[in-house]
Amino acid sequence: MTMRFEPTEEQTLIQKTARDVATRLLAPRAAERDRSERFPVEELSELARLGLLGIALPASLGGAEAGTVAFALSMIELARADASVAVAVSVTHMAAELITRWGTDAQRQRHVPRLVGGEYLCGSFALSEPQAGSDAGALTTTATRTARGWRLDGAKQWITSGSHAGLFVVWARTAPLGAGTRGLSAFLVERGTPGLSAGRPEEKLGLRGSSTVPLVLDGVEVGEDALLARPGDGFQIAMTALDSGRIGIAAQAVGIATAALEATTSYVKARVQFGVPLAQHQATRATLADLATARDAARLLVLFAAWKKQSGLQFSGAAARAKLVASETASRVCDAAIQLHGGYGYTRDFPVERYLRDARVTRIYEGTSEIQRIVIARELLRPR
Ligand code: CAA
Repeated sequence: MTMRFEPTEEQTLIQKTARDVATRLLAPRAAERDRSERFPVEELSELARLGLLGIALPASLGGAEAGTVAFALSMIELARADASVAVAVSVTHMAAELITRWGTDAQRQRHVPRLVGGEYLCGSFALSEPQAGSDAGALTTTATRTARGWRLDGAKQWITSGSHAGLFVVWARTAPLGAGTRGLSAFLVERGTPGLSAGRPEEKLGLRGSSTVPLVLDGVEVGEDALLARPGDGFQIAMTALDSGRIGIAAQAVGIATAALEATTSYVKARVQFGVPLAQHQATRATLADLATARDAARLLVLFAAWKKQSGLQFSGAAARAKLVASETASRVCDAAIQLHGGYGYTRDFPVERYLRDARVTRIYEGTSEIQRIVIARELLRPR
């Protein structure tokens, strides 16, 4: 079997569409969104209009059905311009994918076209809680049966896009704590459902154009049709969704690293010290060579994980490797980018300080680097 590295015509077209809109719409105001912490409402609507919220989703549900490699290529382009917009896209795509996989026909028809078509603006993934982050299985939000469905009570933390999302996938416990991860279930809760409220957005180091909020669920009544799959399937739904989501976050990290590398390449050609451009100094060239090589290695891991997923192969370990390498690489590239910019890189006059701040969280959310290592090691050591 031949191994092909060149993108298909469709993948190239989607990548180009993403690059064009990122250059035209996202890049010019990314710094301003970072400063004002403005959520990208118009930007997400435009991405929905262009079909960039549903790249790997079925055409019958409003998606482009173009596969995960195309999704990853598009994510890299969006994050290269504005990582805050990219994370909203990635989480929305993850929510739409998990409903497509686990939902009933009615749930798919109701929610997926609204997520990818922009009617919900974006989706949120409400798993983490104040006391349950890496240990997601320890969450304590409860779902209790009522005459017409379920009642949800509890608190969620770090909910990306939670201030604006039209739909929340909410995890809750439907069996006592002793049931552990087997006692969790997932629910689809629409914005505006009484009892569901978002708290004050967190004041974050980076990704300041993305909102991150706590949620309160105070007697949220939902119908039986809000339950995704069966009671007790929740943890598996979360884990499989995160396997996919990690490809999106890894691609986001590659996009940020690419932006930092490009900004630095331009800078070192223009900046003269000791009578020649920085680019003429051997130390600069060696650093750039290492950074470009690390970025390319991360990019290949991301595309490999995406390819495995769209080929129907087991991809959990590949996604974790991609996320681990891409997020750590992005931090390293952005830090070196500031170093090569010298004092200017430490100011807001150049974009590299924003890239470093935005890159930092990719080592934390959708599973910290430490969690990725757990996932990778478990796969490696699993009896065959
Ligand atoms: N696919 C399918 N099933 C899986 C799975 C996977 N990838 N990983 C675990 N499972 C199953 C196991 O097979 C096991 O099934 P059984 O009960 O049938 O045996 C069950 O789930 C429990 O698995 P573990 O014993 O491995 O569970 P654990 O409690 O030890 O946790 C973990 C494993 C990998 C550490 C997991 O807790 C984890 O991934 N933690 C990180 C959570 C995370 O990534 N949170 C991100 C928050 S969301 C976010 O950031 C989004 C955003 O807004 C940007």
